[in-house]
Parts: sequence; structure tokens; C-alpha cells
Amino acid sequence: MSNKFPKGFLWGTATSAHQVEGNNVYSDTWLMEHLPGSLFAEPSGDGCDHYHRYPQHIAMLAELGFNAYRFSVEWARVEPEEGYFSLAILEHYRHMLATCHEHGLTPFITFHHFTSPRWLMASGGWESEDTPGKFARFCERVTQHLGDLVGGACTLNEPNVGALITSMGYLPPAKQMQQAPWWQAAAKMLGTTPEKFAPYMFAVSEHARDIMLAAHRMAYNAIKSSRADFPVGITLALQAIQAGEGGEAYANKMRHRLNDYFLEAVRGDDFVGVQAYSRLRLGPQGPLPPEPGVELTQMGYEFWPEALETVIREAHAVAGIPVVVTENGIATEDDSRRQEYIRRALHGVANCLNDGIDVRGYFYWSAFDNYEWTMGYRPRFGLISVDRKTLEPTAKPSARWLGQVARANALPANE
Ligand code: BGC
Repeated sequence: MSNKFPKGFLWGTATSAHQVEGNNVYSDTWLMEHLPGSLFAEPSGDGCDHYHRYPQHIAMLAELGFNAYRFSVEWARVEPEEGYFSLAILEHYRHMLATCHEHGLTPFITFHHFTSPRWLMASGGWESEDTPGKFARFCERVTQHLGDLVGGACTLNEPNVGALITSMGYLPPAKQMQQAPWWQAAAKMLGTTPEKFAPYMFAVSEHARDIMLAAHRMAYNAIKSSRADFPVGITLALQAIQAGEGGEAYANKMRHRLNDYFLEAVRGDDFVGVQAYSRLRLGPQGPLPPEPGVELTQMGYEFWPEALETVIREAHAVAGIPVVVTENGIATEDDSRRQEYIRRALHGVANCLNDGIDVRGYFYWSAFDNYEWTMGYRPRFGLISVDRKTLEPTAKPSARWLGQVARANALPANE
């Protein structure tokens, strides 16, 4: 078996604006983070100050050996009021893209990574039939301004994450959420009602799912009609779904609901962004707890790097289009476990390539220890740590190891 990756393989890291830029104050998420009693453990604050420090950050990634970088363009910054597109902010992202090119990194941008402008909530958020058109208009404007520098684009990040976290029991039922004082306060401040408040991350109904897929389709067409020369796809949160004893029928049903429904919807796109972290074991009625003896990550789920190979194969079989691993990673304080996790995940990628599956790249999540949404800054996904007092970044040993793999375009023969 060859440990060599194909010529032109993308070796990158990924981030999202809200998790690293800092002070994303016009977003719905910023508001939610600041409400007492909210689900968010702490506010995102300065993030990693990526908004200002991106030149240093991008130079570091290039020096480590990477040739690609995935980041998101923040809708709440570009269009802070409906219909007003800030030239200064678009120029900011243009500079970021140019900086990637100066350092030999192919930039992949994400148009929506969980956060939305506050104004979108008043008109129904991700439950509204008008949202796909508004999102497509934003994508078109961004493509017109930045398209010549973009290497690849993801429309929405993980429209299936709502279904996933609900089925894993991570979210309280909708009725309970709507009664929570912080939810009611957020809805009021954003000009809507608790029943109609639909931020992306918590829009988990089947209707919201279909609105998101419609938004992807409209955005794909809008981007393509502005420029046809870079690949466009969506990213999906794909778990390796396994059946525990007696759980086969339920596992098959859930594999369709969580993974394949979405993979079928993106047939014909230029690629599908696969994002894998662990496996999901299902019994006859629902998720099974971690298997005794299996190591856990800081997220509480199993250390299971083999998930990546499983879901690449599934994405290839169901969607039938090229695959880009747009996220894969582990939250741990023990950086040697990170290296082991990546090494095993990459062997899975190599197995897929050796079987002729068209995998175009691997983006590790994440470049930095960043804001992990409701869990705050505690989980450490980064290849690069960030001192929370000074915001100084420091590369970890795993960053150097993966950078060398990227540079060699091959896994070390003896590992
Ligand atoms: C999301 C990231 C998140 C990561 C780790 C993915 O679902 O796209 O924003 O930080 O998982 O939990």
C-alpha cells in the first residue's frame, strides 16, 4: 500500500469566523452567549483575535508546511444591516485571501458557519422561506467581490448538525428551550417570539432542514452564475453509525436520516465536504453510551479516528462526487493523542485513495484552540495553542508533525 498522497492534494487546517475572529457583535450567537443562563458556558470575546492577527496566523500555517486554509466569511459582518454590504469588510476578507496566496495556501471559504446576522432572526431565521434568497444574495455579492481569489467554497456548514445533536440527546426538547428565560429574552431582543426564534444551530425541525438545503441549492447556483471556476460544495457532519445489539433497523433508519438524506441531496455538486469526529452506536431505541474501555475525548465522545474512513466511503457511495475532508480532529489536552488520532485517520484516507476514491484534501479541525460554541474555550482542538491572556499563538508538536506529512505529501513509512 502506498503512503503517498496524490499530487495537488490539499493539506490544510480549518477555522470559522465566530470561533476565532473575536467580537462578532452583529451575530445572533454573540447575543445568545451574553444572556444569563444561556446554554453557552462563556462568551466568545476576543476569540483568537484572528480578525487582526490573520497575517501572523497564516504565515505560521504556511511555515508549518500546509498548502491550504479553510476559513469562513462572516455574514453578520459583511451585511450587518439587511441590504447594506460593507465594502471595508469585504476588503478585509480580500486581504485575507491575498495573504493566503502570498504564502502558497489555497483558500477555501465557508459562506455560513453557524452564525447569522441578527436581523435575519426578525424575519424568521432558518425556518423562513425567505432565508434561502437572502443567503444566496449574500453569496453572490461575496463571490463578485472575492471570487477571483477563492480556491474552493463551502456554502453551509453542517445543515445536518441539528438532527445529529437532537438524536444524540444533546439539546433539550424545543418546548423546554422555548420556556427558558434566556431563549425568551433572545427572541424578544431580536424582534421575534420564542416559538419563531430560529438561529441556525438550534433550528432542528425537518422544515428548517429543507430550508437549509434550499439555501444551499440557491447559493450554489448564485455562486456558479457569478463565477464557475472554483469548486463549490456543502459540508456535512457525518458520524460512523454502528448498530449495537438489536439496533440494526434503528441504525439504518438513522443513517438515512442523519447522513444519506443529505448526501443524496448534494449529488451533482463539485464536491462534498466530509466532517468526521467519532462513531455513533445505536441500540434498538436510541444512542448507546460509550463502550466501556474506549478512550474518550474532551467532548465526552469516543476517540474513534476510524470514523473518517467509514464516512468517506459512505459519502462516495451515496453522493458519487469528489470528497474533501473539510474537518476532522480531536479535542484533547494530550497532544500526543492528537498526533495518534490524525495518524490513524490519515491511514483511513490513504485506504480510500488506494481503492480509487477521489479524495481531494484533508483539513484538520482546528488550526487553533478556539471557541467551541456552548462548551466555551475548554475543549482543545487546536494544532496551535492560544494563550488566553495574551492571545499569543504557539505551535504544538502535532502541528509540526502534520506539517511535515503535508510537506512530504506522504505518511511516514514506519508509522
Ligand atoms: C463544527 C465546528 C466545531 C467542531 C468541533 C464541527 O461540527 O463545524 O464549528 O467546532 O465540529 O466540535
